[in-house]
Amino acid sequence: MPSSKLFDGQELLSQECQDFISSLPKEKSITLQPLYQYQGFWHNDRCLLALISTQKHFEAQDSDVFVVSNPKCGTTWLKSLTFALLYRKQHPVTAQNHPLLSSNAHDLVPYIDMNLFYDNKIPDMESFPSPRLLATHMPYVSLPDSIKNSSKCKLVYVSRDPKDAFVSLWHHGCNAGLHDLNSSMEEAFEDYCKGISFYGPIWDHVLQYWNQSLLNPQTTLFLKYEDMKAHPALHLRRLADFLGCPFSAEEEESGVVDQILNLCSFDHLIGLQVNKTGVSKWGVDNNVFFRRGQVGDAKNYLSEEMIKKIDGITRDRFSGSGLLS
Ligand code: A3P
Repeated sequence: MPSSKLFDGQELLSQECQDFISSLPKEKSITLQPLYQYQGFWHNDRCLLALISTQKHFEAQDSDVFVVSNPKCGTTWLKSLTFALLYRKQHPVTAQNHPLLSSNAHDLVPYIDMNLFYDNKIPDMESFPSPRLLATHMPYVSLPDSIKNSSKCKLVYVSRDPKDAFVSLWHHGCNAGLHDLNSSMEEAFEDYCKGISFYGPIWDHVLQYWNQSLLNPQTTLFLKYEDMKAHPALHLRRLADFLGCPFSAEEEESGVVDQILNLCSFDHLIGLQVNKTGVSKWGVDNNVFFRRGQVGDAKNYLSEEMIKKIDGITRDRFSGSGLLS
Protein backbone atom coordinates (compact mmCIF):
# COMPACT_ATOMS: atom_id res chain seq x y z
CA MET A 1 0.00 0.00 0.00
CA PRO A 2 1.51 3.38 -0.95
CA SER A 3 2.17 5.76 1.92
CA SER A 4 -0.40 8.46 2.73
CA LYS A 5 0.30 12.16 2.52
CA LEU A 6 -1.65 15.32 2.97
CA PHE A 7 -3.24 16.55 -0.23
CA ASP A 8 -4.59 20.07 -0.75
CA GLY A 9 -4.28 20.56 2.96
CA GLN A 10 -7.25 18.50 3.99
CA GLU A 11 -7.26 14.83 3.17
CA LEU A 12 -4.97 11.89 3.57
CA LEU A 13 -4.57 10.36 0.16
CA SER A 14 -2.30 7.65 -1.15
CA GLN A 15 0.64 8.58 -3.37
CA GLU A 16 -1.07 6.75 -6.20
CA CYS A 17 -4.20 8.92 -5.83
CA GLN A 18 -2.17 12.10 -5.55
CA ASP A 19 -0.24 11.25 -8.70
CA PHE A 20 -3.43 10.46 -10.58
CA ILE A 21 -5.24 13.60 -9.49
CA SER A 22 -2.17 15.75 -10.14
CA SER A 23 -2.08 14.47 -13.71
CA LEU A 24 -5.57 15.86 -14.45
CA PRO A 25 -6.40 19.33 -15.78
CA LYS A 26 -6.87 21.59 -12.76
CA GLU A 27 -8.64 24.93 -12.29
CA LYS A 28 -9.02 27.02 -9.21
CA SER A 29 -12.66 27.62 -8.46
CA ILE A 30 -14.69 30.01 -6.36
CA THR A 31 -15.07 27.25 -3.80
CA LEU A 32 -12.06 26.88 -1.58
CA GLN A 33 -10.89 23.77 -3.39
CA PRO A 34 -9.53 23.40 -6.91
CA LEU A 35 -11.54 21.41 -9.43
CA TYR A 36 -10.11 18.58 -11.55
CA GLN A 37 -11.40 17.54 -14.94
CA TYR A 38 -12.18 13.87 -15.30
CA GLN A 39 -14.07 12.33 -18.22
CA GLY A 40 -15.01 15.84 -19.35
CA PHE A 41 -16.47 17.08 -16.04
CA TRP A 42 -15.13 19.06 -13.07
CA HIS A 43 -14.91 17.65 -9.54
CA ASN A 44 -13.16 18.48 -6.30
CA ASP A 45 -10.59 15.91 -5.17
CA ARG A 46 -12.73 14.14 -2.58
CA CYS A 47 -15.78 13.83 -4.82
CA LEU A 48 -13.57 12.63 -7.63
CA LEU A 49 -12.09 9.89 -5.47
CA ALA A 50 -15.57 8.90 -4.35
CA LEU A 51 -16.67 8.77 -7.99
CA ILE A 52 -13.74 6.56 -8.95
CA SER A 53 -14.35 4.29 -5.97
CA THR A 54 -18.01 4.01 -7.00
CA GLN A 55 -16.98 3.16 -10.56
CA LYS A 56 -14.73 0.40 -9.21
CA HIS A 57 -16.85 -1.11 -6.49
CA PHE A 58 -20.54 -0.37 -6.97
CA GLU A 59 -22.59 -3.29 -8.26
CA ALA A 60 -26.02 -2.33 -9.54
CA GLN A 61 -29.06 -4.54 -9.03
CA ASP A 62 -31.74 -4.66 -11.71
CA SER A 63 -34.32 -3.30 -9.29
CA ASP A 64 -32.23 -0.21 -8.42
CA VAL A 65 -33.69 3.25 -8.93
CA PHE A 66 -31.39 6.28 -9.21
CA VAL A 67 -32.35 9.92 -8.86
CA VAL A 68 -29.87 11.80 -11.04
CA SER A 69 -29.24 15.50 -11.58
CA ASN A 70 -26.75 18.25 -12.00
CA PRO A 71 -26.48 20.14 -8.69
CA LYS A 72 -29.34 22.52 -7.79
CA CYS A 73 -31.75 21.28 -10.42
CA GLY A 74 -34.43 19.96 -8.06
CA THR A 75 -32.77 16.85 -6.61
CA THR A 76 -34.23 17.28 -3.12
CA TRP A 77 -37.74 17.52 -4.55
CA LEU A 78 -37.30 14.56 -6.89
CA LYS A 79 -35.74 12.46 -4.11
CA SER A 80 -38.74 13.25 -1.89
CA LEU A 81 -41.30 12.46 -4.59
CA THR A 82 -39.59 9.25 -5.64
CA PHE A 83 -39.21 8.06 -2.05
CA ALA A 84 -42.85 8.78 -1.22
CA LEU A 85 -44.03 7.14 -4.43
CA LEU A 86 -41.85 4.04 -4.45
CA TYR A 87 -42.29 3.14 -0.78
CA ARG A 88 -45.95 4.12 -0.41
CA LYS A 89 -46.98 0.58 0.58
CA GLN A 90 -44.47 0.43 3.48
CA HIS A 91 -44.96 4.11 4.34
CA PRO A 92 -48.53 5.26 3.66
CA VAL A 93 -48.32 8.84 2.52
CA THR A 94 -50.59 10.28 5.19
CA ALA A 95 -49.00 8.36 8.08
CA GLN A 96 -48.05 10.55 11.06
CA ASN A 97 -44.67 8.84 11.16
CA HIS A 98 -43.86 9.10 7.46
CA PRO A 99 -40.03 9.19 7.15
CA LEU A 100 -40.13 12.47 5.18
CA LEU A 101 -41.64 14.19 8.22
CA SER A 102 -38.60 13.48 10.35
CA SER A 103 -35.73 13.00 7.87
CA ASN A 104 -34.42 15.10 5.05
CA ALA A 105 -34.64 13.48 1.62
CA HIS A 106 -30.83 13.45 1.37
CA ASP A 107 -30.66 11.12 4.37
CA LEU A 108 -33.34 8.85 2.96
CA VAL A 109 -31.92 8.76 -0.56
CA PRO A 110 -28.13 8.97 -0.31
CA TYR A 111 -25.74 9.82 -3.10
CA ILE A 112 -23.79 6.68 -3.95
CA ASP A 113 -20.59 8.59 -4.61
CA MET A 114 -20.78 11.71 -2.43
CA ASN A 115 -22.19 9.88 0.62
CA LEU A 116 -21.78 6.12 0.48
CA PHE A 117 -18.41 5.67 -1.22
CA TYR A 118 -16.98 8.90 0.23
CA ASP A 119 -13.70 9.02 2.17
CA ASN A 120 -12.52 5.57 1.14
CA LYS A 121 -15.60 3.85 2.50
CA ILE A 122 -16.89 0.69 0.86
CA PRO A 123 -20.46 0.54 2.17
CA ASP A 124 -22.55 -2.53 2.81
CA MET A 125 -25.05 -2.12 -0.01
CA GLU A 126 -26.87 -5.35 0.89
CA SER A 127 -28.51 -3.73 3.90
CA PHE A 128 -30.65 -1.41 1.75
CA PRO A 129 -34.33 -2.24 1.35
CA SER A 130 -35.29 -3.45 -2.09
CA PRO A 131 -35.80 -1.74 -4.47
CA ARG A 132 -32.79 0.38 -3.52
CA LEU A 133 -33.36 4.09 -4.04
CA LEU A 134 -30.07 5.93 -4.53
CA ALA A 135 -28.89 9.16 -6.10
CA THR A 136 -25.96 10.64 -7.93
CA HIS A 137 -24.74 13.79 -9.66
CA MET A 138 -22.30 11.71 -11.74
CA PRO A 139 -22.46 12.42 -15.46
CA TYR A 140 -23.69 9.52 -17.57
CA VAL A 141 -20.22 8.88 -18.95
CA SER A 142 -18.90 8.25 -15.43
CA LEU A 143 -21.62 5.92 -14.17
CA PRO A 144 -20.37 2.48 -13.11
CA ASP A 145 -20.61 -0.08 -15.93
CA SER A 146 -22.98 -2.18 -13.87
CA ILE A 147 -25.56 0.62 -14.08
CA LYS A 148 -24.96 1.39 -17.74
CA ASN A 149 -25.03 -2.30 -18.71
CA SER A 150 -28.22 -3.09 -16.85
CA SER A 151 -31.26 -3.15 -19.07
CA LYS A 152 -33.49 -2.88 -16.03
CA CYS A 153 -32.30 -0.42 -13.42
CA LYS A 154 -33.96 2.94 -13.72
CA LEU A 155 -32.52 6.44 -13.91
CA VAL A 156 -34.77 9.38 -13.17
CA TYR A 157 -33.12 12.61 -14.26
CA VAL A 158 -34.19 16.16 -13.46
CA SER A 159 -32.87 19.08 -15.49
CA ARG A 160 -33.35 22.80 -14.93
CA ASP A 161 -32.80 26.02 -16.82
CA PRO A 162 -29.01 26.53 -16.36
CA LYS A 163 -29.42 30.18 -15.33
CA ASP A 164 -31.71 29.25 -12.43
CA ALA A 165 -29.44 26.33 -11.53
CA PHE A 166 -26.48 28.73 -11.45
CA VAL A 167 -28.26 31.21 -9.18
CA SER A 168 -29.31 28.38 -6.90
CA LEU A 169 -25.75 27.02 -6.81
CA TRP A 170 -24.34 30.44 -6.00
CA HIS A 171 -26.69 30.80 -3.04
CA HIS A 172 -26.03 27.25 -1.90
CA GLY A 173 -22.30 28.00 -1.85
CA CYS A 174 -22.88 31.21 0.12
CA ASN A 175 -25.30 29.62 2.60
CA ALA A 176 -23.19 26.52 3.13
CA GLY A 177 -19.98 28.54 3.56
CA LEU A 178 -18.32 26.92 0.57
CA HIS A 179 -17.12 30.02 -1.26
CA ASP A 180 -13.85 31.85 -1.16
CA LEU A 181 -15.04 35.08 0.47
CA ASN A 182 -13.05 37.16 -2.02
CA SER A 183 -14.94 35.72 -4.97
CA SER A 184 -17.88 37.40 -6.65
CA MET A 185 -21.02 36.14 -8.32
CA GLU A 186 -19.69 37.54 -11.61
CA GLU A 187 -16.55 35.38 -11.37
CA ALA A 188 -18.61 32.34 -10.48
CA PHE A 189 -20.86 33.06 -13.45
CA GLU A 190 -17.93 33.26 -15.88
CA ASP A 191 -16.61 29.92 -14.60
CA TYR A 192 -20.07 28.35 -14.82
CA CYS A 193 -20.45 29.50 -18.40
CA LYS A 194 -17.08 27.91 -19.19
CA GLY A 195 -18.33 24.72 -17.59
CA ILE A 196 -15.93 25.01 -14.65
CA SER A 197 -18.30 24.24 -11.80
CA PHE A 198 -19.16 21.31 -9.55
CA TYR A 199 -20.17 18.51 -12.01
CA GLY A 200 -20.09 21.03 -14.87
CA PRO A 201 -20.53 21.70 -17.69
CA ILE A 202 -24.24 21.47 -16.94
CA TRP A 203 -25.04 21.47 -20.66
CA ASP A 204 -23.05 18.28 -21.33
CA HIS A 205 -24.49 16.65 -18.23
CA VAL A 206 -28.06 17.35 -19.32
CA LEU A 207 -27.42 16.33 -22.92
CA GLN A 208 -25.91 12.97 -21.96
CA TYR A 209 -29.00 11.98 -19.97
CA TRP A 210 -31.38 13.50 -22.51
CA ASN A 211 -29.81 11.37 -25.22
CA GLN A 212 -30.04 8.31 -22.98
CA SER A 213 -33.72 8.99 -22.40
CA LEU A 214 -34.27 9.02 -26.15
CA LEU A 215 -32.20 5.88 -26.71
CA ASN A 216 -33.50 3.94 -23.72
CA PRO A 217 -36.82 5.37 -22.59
CA GLN A 218 -37.50 2.26 -20.46
CA THR A 219 -34.46 2.91 -18.30
CA THR A 220 -34.06 6.71 -18.31
CA LEU A 221 -36.85 9.16 -17.58
CA PHE A 222 -36.00 12.79 -18.28
CA LEU A 223 -37.88 15.42 -16.29
CA LYS A 224 -37.64 19.20 -16.32
CA TYR A 225 -37.98 21.20 -13.08
CA GLU A 226 -40.04 23.83 -14.90
CA ASP A 227 -42.49 21.23 -16.26
CA MET A 228 -42.81 19.65 -12.83
CA LYS A 229 -43.61 23.01 -11.29
CA ALA A 230 -46.22 23.70 -13.98
CA HIS A 231 -47.88 20.25 -14.01
CA PRO A 232 -46.78 18.33 -10.93
CA ALA A 233 -49.53 15.69 -11.00
CA LEU A 234 -48.89 14.86 -14.64
CA HIS A 235 -45.20 14.29 -14.05
CA LEU A 236 -45.75 12.36 -10.83
CA ARG A 237 -48.01 9.97 -12.77
CA ARG A 238 -45.32 9.70 -15.48
CA LEU A 239 -42.81 8.86 -12.77
CA ALA A 240 -45.11 6.25 -11.25
CA ASP A 241 -45.70 4.60 -14.65
CA PHE A 242 -41.99 4.68 -15.45
CA LEU A 243 -41.07 3.05 -12.13
CA GLY A 244 -43.64 0.33 -12.65
CA CYS A 245 -45.80 1.44 -9.74
CA PRO A 246 -48.70 3.28 -11.43
CA PHE A 247 -51.51 4.68 -9.31
CA SER A 248 -54.42 2.27 -9.03
CA ALA A 249 -57.97 3.45 -9.68
CA GLU A 250 -58.52 3.23 -5.94
CA GLU A 251 -55.49 5.42 -5.22
CA GLU A 252 -56.59 7.93 -7.83
CA GLU A 253 -60.01 7.97 -6.24
CA SER A 254 -58.66 8.50 -2.74
CA GLY A 255 -56.35 11.36 -3.77
CA VAL A 256 -52.94 9.72 -3.27
CA VAL A 257 -51.44 11.80 -6.09
CA ASP A 258 -52.26 15.06 -4.32
CA GLN A 259 -51.23 13.63 -0.99
CA ILE A 260 -47.75 12.85 -2.33
CA LEU A 261 -47.50 16.27 -3.97
CA ASN A 262 -48.52 17.98 -0.74
CA LEU A 263 -46.15 15.93 1.37
CA CYS A 264 -43.25 16.83 -0.95
CA SER A 265 -44.23 20.41 -1.73
CA PHE A 266 -41.71 23.16 -1.13
CA ASP A 267 -44.01 24.93 1.34
CA HIS A 268 -44.57 21.78 3.36
CA LEU A 269 -40.98 20.56 3.45
CA ILE A 270 -39.45 23.95 4.26
CA GLY A 271 -41.74 24.24 7.30
CA LEU A 272 -40.75 20.92 8.89
CA GLN A 273 -38.56 21.12 11.95
CA VAL A 274 -36.12 18.62 10.46
CA ASN A 275 -35.55 20.90 7.48
CA LYS A 276 -35.48 24.13 9.51
CA THR A 277 -32.91 23.12 12.09
CA GLY A 278 -31.73 19.62 11.22
CA VAL A 279 -28.32 18.60 9.96
CA SER A 280 -27.97 15.68 7.58
CA LYS A 281 -26.01 12.54 8.46
CA TRP A 282 -23.29 14.01 6.28
CA GLY A 283 -23.04 17.24 8.20
CA VAL A 284 -24.87 19.63 5.87
CA ASP A 285 -27.61 21.91 7.28
CA ASN A 286 -30.87 20.71 5.77
CA ASN A 287 -32.18 24.25 5.34
CA VAL A 288 -29.66 25.05 2.59
CA PHE A 289 -31.63 22.79 0.24
CA PHE A 290 -34.72 25.00 0.43
CA ARG A 291 -34.48 28.57 -0.78
CA ARG A 292 -37.20 29.91 -3.08
CA GLY A 293 -38.13 26.95 -5.26
CA GLN A 294 -39.27 29.12 -8.16
CA VAL A 295 -38.87 29.13 -11.89
CA GLY A 296 -37.15 32.20 -13.33
CA ASP A 297 -35.39 33.42 -10.17
CA ALA A 298 -32.27 34.19 -12.25
CA LYS A 299 -33.82 37.46 -13.39
CA ASN A 300 -33.64 38.72 -9.80
CA TYR A 301 -29.87 38.25 -9.65
CA LEU A 302 -28.33 38.31 -13.13
CA SER A 303 -27.96 41.35 -15.38
CA GLU A 304 -29.63 41.36 -18.79
CA GLU A 305 -26.22 40.84 -20.33
CA MET A 306 -25.53 37.80 -18.18
CA ILE A 307 -28.91 36.31 -19.02
CA LYS A 308 -28.30 36.92 -22.71
CA LYS A 309 -24.95 35.19 -22.45
CA ILE A 310 -26.08 32.08 -20.60
CA ASP A 311 -29.28 31.73 -22.64
CA GLY A 312 -27.14 31.96 -25.78
CA ILE A 313 -24.95 29.09 -24.55
CA THR A 314 -28.02 27.03 -23.71
CA ARG A 315 -29.51 27.67 -27.16
CA ASP A 316 -26.25 26.79 -28.92
CA ARG A 317 -25.57 23.68 -26.87
CA PHE A 318 -29.11 22.32 -26.98
CA SER A 319 -29.99 23.26 -30.55
CA GLY A 320 -30.91 20.25 -32.61
CA SER A 321 -31.25 18.00 -29.55
CA GLY A 322 -34.99 18.39 -29.17
CA LEU A 323 -34.48 19.79 -25.69
CA LEU A 324 -35.50 23.34 -26.52
CA SER A 325 -39.03 22.49 -27.55
P1 A3P B 1 -33.67 27.62 -5.51
O1 A3P B 1 -32.29 27.83 -4.96
O2 A3P B 1 -33.85 28.24 -6.86
O3 A3P B 1 -34.74 28.03 -4.57
P2 A3P B 1 -31.23 20.59 -5.32
O4 A3P B 1 -32.28 19.90 -4.54
O5 A3P B 1 -30.87 19.90 -6.60
O6 A3P B 1 -30.09 20.97 -4.48
O7 A3P B 1 -31.92 21.94 -5.85
C1 A3P B 1 -32.27 22.93 -4.94
C2 A3P B 1 -33.32 23.81 -5.57
O8 A3P B 1 -34.57 23.14 -5.53
C3 A3P B 1 -33.47 25.08 -4.78
O9 A3P B 1 -33.88 26.06 -5.74
C4 A3P B 1 -34.59 24.71 -3.83
O10 A3P B 1 -35.25 25.82 -3.26
C5 A3P B 1 -35.49 23.90 -4.74
N1 A3P B 1 -36.36 22.98 -4.02
C6 A3P B 1 -36.09 22.27 -2.90
N2 A3P B 1 -37.15 21.54 -2.53
C7 A3P B 1 -38.12 21.80 -3.43
C8 A3P B 1 -39.49 21.36 -3.56
N3 A3P B 1 -40.03 20.52 -2.70
N4 A3P B 1 -40.18 21.82 -4.61
C9 A3P B 1 -39.64 22.67 -5.50
N5 A3P B 1 -38.38 23.14 -5.41
C10 A3P B 1 -37.62 22.71 -4.39
